[in-house]
Amino acid sequence: MKIFVKIMALAILGTLLASCCRQNEPYLVPQPQNVTLNTGTFTIDNNVSILGNADFEIEYLKDKLSKGASVSLQEGNGGKRVIEIKIDPESSIENEGYRLSVLPDKITILASGKGGAFYGVQTLLQLMPAEIYSEGGNLGKIKVPCVEIEDYPRFGYRGAGLDVSRTFFPLETIYDFIDWISYHKINTFHWHITDDNGWRVEIKKYPLLTEKGAWRGPDEVLPPAYGSGNKRYGGFYTQEEIKEVVKYAADRNITIIPEIDMPGHSKAVIETYPQVGCTNKNKTMSVNGEVNNVWCIGKESNYAMIEDIVAELVELFPSRLIHLGGDEVNMDNWKNCPHCQAFMRKMGMKEEIELLNYFVRRMEKIVNKHGRVLVGWDEIIKGGDLEPSTTVYGWGSMKRGANAVRQGQPTVFLPGQYCYLDMKQSPYERGHNWAAIVTLDSCYKVDPIKMNDFTPEEEKLVLGIQGNLWCELLDRPERFMEYQFFPRLCAISEAAWTSAELKNFDDFYGRLTSAHYDRLHNMGIKFRLPFPEVVYEDGILKVTPPYEGAVVRYTTDASDPDTSSQQYKGEIKTAEPEKYRFATFYKDCNQSITVGASNIELYHYLTPEVSISSSYKENESNKSFPMKNITTYDMKKYWRVNRRSYPGDFVLYTFAEPVECGKITVETGVPNITFYSCTEGHVEYSYNGTDFIKGDEFVYGTATVRPEDKVKAVKIVFDGMSDALITSFQNLRIEK
Ligand code: ACM
Ligand code: ZN
Repeated sequence: MKIFVKIMALAILGTLLASCCRQNEPYLVPQPQNVTLNTGTFTIDNNVSILGNADFEIEYLKDKLSKGASVSLQEGNGGKRVIEIKIDPESSIENEGYRLSVLPDKITILASGKGGAFYGVQTLLQLMPAEIYSEGGNLGKIKVPCVEIEDYPRFGYRGAGLDVSRTFFPLETIYDFIDWISYHKINTFHWHITDDNGWRVEIKKYPLLTEKGAWRGPDEVLPPAYGSGNKRYGGFYTQEEIKEVVKYAADRNITIIPEIDMPGHSKAVIETYPQVGCTNKNKTMSVNGEVNNVWCIGKESNYAMIEDIVAELVELFPSRLIHLGGDEVNMDNWKNCPHCQAFMRKMGMKEEIELLNYFVRRMEKIVNKHGRVLVGWDEIIKGGDLEPSTTVYGWGSMKRGANAVRQGQPTVFLPGQYCYLDMKQSPYERGHNWAAIVTLDSCYKVDPIKMNDFTPEEEKLVLGIQGNLWCELLDRPERFMEYQFFPRLCAISEAAWTSAELKNFDDFYGRLTSAHYDRLHNMGIKFRLPFPEVVYEDGILKVTPPYEGAVVRYTTDASDPDTSSQQYKGEIKTAEPEKYRFATFYKDCNQSITVGASNIELYHYLTPEVSISSSYKENESNKSFPMKNITTYDMKKYWRVNRRSYPGDFVLYTFAEPVECGKITVETGVPNITFYSCTEGHVEYSYNGTDFIKGDEFVYGTATVRPEDKVKAVKIVFDGMSDALITSFQNLRIEK
């Protein structure tokens, strides 16, 4: 009995100690490998001096303290207290690892290389108040808790990939992005710098690539796409600009791997230098709906052009790895091309996939000649052998990455199901879902070692993990790039950095919401906030805030809550739950999407019998998404037309009987993605089916009718060319 009491008392004390220490423990992201929290603090103020041989990191820390805290460190060791940042190549500290010691009178960061010194500084910044990341901060004095941290990365490759072709990001955003990922100990920026919809790197020998291929619009060689609308849209980075970006990234321990996506995804080249493409009579579409976007394999002159492009590229990017694509090639181009077919016969090839392998092998030679290593998407392992050094990006699934490893290729893992940040984060948010709904938890889980049964030799081929953003849906809402990356990239950074045994999602989520949100905010990132869970039961609306301390606000008229909306404090008794909307708020400057109760119908749409007529021919309709879908009032269904729309195109919804209603919302595009929509057009409506009244213009694919009489018909009218190769229409949302 006594022993039992003693054990219980010890257990309770242990729990108390654990929770008290946990409380004081700095909430770091990504979690370091070893943290010992000691008592006491080191005070940073103007009496502190800084010394060491890590020149960049010293200047970097001084700059952060000056901007974020108005503290000026003195050079040398004359101050009362000292910060030393030292690189000792002879030390036994792992590559990119560091030791950070905070004592009351001295902070020491020791590393064996530049990367570790930089990451030691990053961890030190996370020990300070979050305002340290802001510019114009005035903390004056900072108390840093005494700690001993020994840290090193789990994977040598920790990547973030950004597609700047579908959406062009100005240079200042690229610089911000590099800062943001560097704070998370990400060491690789995979810059997807060309694709069908824009070529974004200056190549001096082929100026048309950017003079023409960087621009979309009604009078450009590239047609409008992905929300860029009926105006000239685009941009590119000059070679001088790129060199500066590369240097800025390298200072922050980030290697930039450029990707010229070939031989598919190449419309931007082929529309500017048409001789590069195949000679096709039959136009076939790539999976992205593009025609004429594949380099011809049978034309020898193409390889000279690629040699020239790569020669300029390697001068800009010192990266060991050079990515030349290889994904989603529409091989029907090669099937239909006399040059490719003649080449296959000459080479004794039986299948077009062998042409892909031939192309990749030539790319290996071109890249290897410069002392670099080729990277390609996971399709490149098909069709024949590769150089052992050729590196694969496993994107299609975890299994496809694993196949590359088993075939002996070094592999970076970015399986869409875990790492594609263009996937939506919940069923209610904008984004794709072909791979999965990619939650924060999915990103945190990704683990190519634990999720595969690799031999120790195979494990060595697992280079690391990458979070990746494709940008076809990035035209809106504002700053959606930040929303898609953060905090999902924080989860990926921990998956890539922290040992598997230390990973714990609940712990990560606690650190994220209680400390790291403040850092993201001060870094200037418009990050995604999770929405509350709301259910209606027994006449009561019950809200579960998404994290401890989250502020939830709500409205009672189905409008979006804002900062003046009342705060949820406890259960709400109501007979009209469909009128309530809720959102999570962070510091009144960031909010989640708006939600209602998840277990009730929020909208009561009318479903009158309706028939459709239109300007589209029957054979233009996609068989999998037929016209009749938009007469069902199943809001998930849609009608897809396999062509771009032009002025004069229309869709007419005619009701069997005039409908009494207060509002009709006319949505175009794919539901929940609003992609392939009416970008320039208006809605018309009629009370008698003959005389039409002009209504609203479509804004982002949506227009609304508020009729004053019973409605007999509603018409979608295109006034300008739509900005996609496909057009989609939805069921009318008719409300009383
Ligand atoms: C890819 O997502 N096509 C690499
Ligand atoms: Zn060809």
